[in-house]
Amino acid sequence: MAYENVLLEKEDRIAILSINRPKALNALNNDTLVEIDKAVDEIKADDSIDVVIVTGAGDKAFVAGADIAFMQNLTAMEARAFGALGQAAFRKLEAMEKPSIAAVNGFALGGGCELAMACDFRVASTSAKFGQPEVGLGITPGFGGTQRLPRLVGPGMAKQMLYTADIIDANEALRIGLVNSVVAPEELMDFVKKIAKRIISKAPVAVRLSKAAANEGLQVDIDRSMTIEADAFGLCFATTDQKEGMGAFVEKRKPQFTGK
Ligand code: CAA
Repeated sequence: MAYENVLLEKEDRIAILSINRPKALNALNNDTLVEIDKAVDEIKADDSIDVVIVTGAGDKAFVAGADIAFMQNLTAMEARAFGALGQAAFRKLEAMEKPSIAAVNGFALGGGCELAMACDFRVASTSAKFGQPEVGLGITPGFGGTQRLPRLVGPGMAKQMLYTADIIDANEALRIGLVNSVVAPEELMDFVKKIAKRIISKAPVAVRLSKAAANEGLQVDIDRSMTIEADAFGLCFATTDQKEGMGAFVEKRKPQFTGK
């Protein structure tokens, strides 16, 4: 489908989803959230895609948050529905089988930090800035920030960020574990694409089951999580790629995975 507020490019089994409202620093209004949701559906259904990279158009922002001008005069019920729309789109991205990587190329504030956190992991450029500035606007985060930030960086650091609205730079984000790597802005996309290609070179079913096991295991107690892992592990042995991966190791050659 045609999108107005996002760009969806596809190359070498990678989808690049760019939030594309650079004049508003890629702020998320209702239409943009609907398009993110639709783009995730498209990526999920496209057998030519294995990994999605989420980024922001332009060189200044990943996403500077939910659109404040759009939210300013919402009623409580409208705001609740707007929050639920963002939550659902981000949850769809988080829960989809295919891995996602956020390439954070500038401001990732409020809904932007929340979008990055809904990806499997984050790589930042040195120009990236992260924060949940909502309490400075008289609101709480609404697209998952109060829930994903504590899970990612621990409750103490998350609560400090949530209560102070402080903005942190890329190196501080690296220190607290919010991002995995920090690279120069001009190297960001190549760096992230190289990670995507390394993922794509592995057995796709095993990668997707690893994602599902990690995500689902984080929601349950340790005993249940071990069952989830045992099921995933066992299921791999029903795939051709397990035969190929182990056969290639024994025969001292490179595996040729087919995703079956
Ligand atoms: N919503 C709407 N418009 C935004 C925006 C946002 N979140 N962030 C930036 N913009 C717009 C600005 O209004 C401005 O538009 P005009 O040129 O028409 O005036 C344009 O983008 C450029 O922004 P600035 O001139 O402010 O750029 P700057 O370099 O001086 O500052 C910034 C950059 C520090 C990111 C600043 O724009 C800013 O603080 N933005 C708001 C960040 C924020 O509070 N985000 C959280 C939103 S609430 C939320 O996300 C709730 C939720 O969880 C659902």
